[in-house]
Amino acid sequence: MDSENFREKFNQHLLHPWGDLSTIGEDDHSSVIVKGDGVYIFDAEGNRLLDGPAGMWCMQTGYGRREIADAVAEQIMNLSYATSFSVINNREVQLAQRIAEQTPGDLNRIFFTTGGSTSVDSALRLCQLASNIQGKPHRKHILTREKAYHGSTFLSASVTGKERDKSAMDTIKEGIHFLSAPCHFYHPEFATEEAFCDFLIEELEQKILDVGADNIMCFIAEPILASGGVIVPPANYNQRCWQTVKKHGITYIADEVVTGFGRLGHWFASEAVFGVVPDMIIFAKGVTSGYIPMGGYAVSETFLASFSGDNADGCLYSNGYTWGGSPVACAAALTSWDIIERENLLSHVHQIGPYFQQQLRTLKDIPLVGDVRGQGLMAAVEMTIEGRNEEDLLAKDYAIGDMVDQHCQQLGLLVRPFINICIISPPLIITRQQVDELVSTLRLGLELTLKDLREQGIWID
Ligand SMILES: Cc1ncc(COP(=O)(O)O)c(C=O)c1O
Repeated sequence: MDSENFREKFNQHLLHPWGDLSTIGEDDHSSVIVKGDGVYIFDAEGNRLLDGPAGMWCMQTGYGRREIADAVAEQIMNLSYATSFSVINNREVQLAQRIAEQTPGDLNRIFFTTGGSTSVDSALRLCQLASNIQGKPHRKHILTREKAYHGSTFLSASVTGKERDKSAMDTIKEGIHFLSAPCHFYHPEFATEEAFCDFLIEELEQKILDVGADNIMCFIAEPILASGGVIVPPANYNQRCWQTVKKHGITYIADEVVTGFGRLGHWFASEAVFGVVPDMIIFAKGVTSGYIPMGGYAVSETFLASFSGDNADGCLYSNGYTWGGSPVACAAALTSWDIIERENLLSHVHQIGPYFQQQLRTLKDIPLVGDVRGQGLMAAVEMTIEGRNEEDLLAKDYAIGDMVDQHCQQLGLLVRPFINICIISPPLIITRQQVDELVSTLRLGLELTLKDLREQGIWID
């Protein structure tokens, strides 16, 4: 079957995440992907696309790894399933031990889930349980940020701050507090990043005062806000937030679903990059190089001890998933881990990351490009037609990401469009030559988009 046939059946039968309900069943352009190899994916006609977003920030070791396939096949034949509700499996133990060795501080206990959302949900529910056991049922307020993305379960979506995602879907409003997104680009009124950072910390302090430290269950934060537009916070922001919330005895949760497993050149970025030792770290995606769904969190022994053992008050952590700790997912994760180690992919990210960032920044000479930002192997190219205030961005730039994406797909590059932003986070194995290919194709896609905008009279020189 060719792409058109697949698309026709897709239009009849599928609903995709974040699907636009007004155009449901009308897709006439999305690539139909049938194969992957290294950093490339291929459509049904055999056209090759460089996978800019690495699937969805997850294909750390790239596509088509025979070694992972063999390990998964062997695991399926040996033990395809074991329920963590009643037995221990050898693979979950091996993986948990490796993760615990890499997490900072005393984050030595691991809970496995099926992905990022279920990990966020499970971590927040553990914190709720802690408050209840400790006789503080009022301590349930959550601090989060605008433009944060934490997932799609009811609770993880409720702590998500991406304005578009709030459209008409229900979320919990009570007790969830959104602080400003730490993006200096959106706040040119602050002359320096330092001044902006001071403002953000004062805002956090004020919020803690207003809500009352004793009512606040946790602060949840991605070290770099990924899906909200690769927002790299001002220097020291993460550490200052952590110090502030810890001063008030509030639990700090780092959502490392994207920043973990090598994207910033470390197994976990919290301490290594940002000098933060959280109480909990959430991971998913890259843990299996995207080959099998899996997620989880690491929790600090100190935090856990405050409501377990003699302090447990007879309570259970009644939360878990059929496929949490699946031996097959763990086998994929262990093999991906072996590859990352053997091929020195963490040091590769340290070497290629600065080159990737520097090359992407050369795109700033295109008038349509308002900002290029990022760190390690995660980046965003933000297109701006005019003005920088959010209303303008949403009203006028809404379709630009899609326009660039469509041109790039024709040219052999997949980018992840988000409103007026293209998100790029390639597999960790990307080479300098492939970075050059990515950037030159993106340049062409941006120039063609600018040409379209000029022809449509939207862009006026
Ligand atoms: C930071 C972060 N947290 C949580 C999630 C949710 O993960 P999942 O889609 O695996 O449920 C995502 C997904 O993009 C994410 O980027």
